[in-house]
Amino acid sequence: MCPGVHLAERNQWRIVSKLIWAFEIKEPIDPTTGKTISLDPEDYSNGLLHAPKPFKVIFKPRSQAHIDVIKREYEESMRDLAPFE
Ligand code: HEM
Repeated sequence: MCPGVHLAERNQWRIVSKLIWAFEIKEPIDPTTGKTISLDPEDYSNGLLHAPKPFKVIFKPRSQAHIDVIKREYEESMRDLAPFE
């Protein structure tokens, strides 16, 4: 059994929460027709790692205030992590 399961699950929870907080995630628009391209929720690859096949989506920041927070946090993280490079 994986001893990192709690760390892994908590991090995945945080990653998904932050993505949903920051972005509207929408189906892509066809550039020629201007219509939404529907995603197939059952389009998975088979095999040992059962995973969705590559697909396109639109990540749209929820507001300028969200963009400002993302940039500020990014800059702070890079500054904090710099000593470990
Ligand atoms: C999404 C993240 C992760 C996934 C999907 C994952 C998955 C797995 C799987 C499938 C195994 C084999 C379990 C078995 O043989 O019964 C495993 C083992 C292991 N994992 Fe993870 N793991 C993740 C994150 C982590 C993290 C964050 C750590 C450490 C901080 C970690 C440390 C280990 C170790 C040391 C083993 C070997 C355990 C042993 O053989 O006794 N894993 N993991």
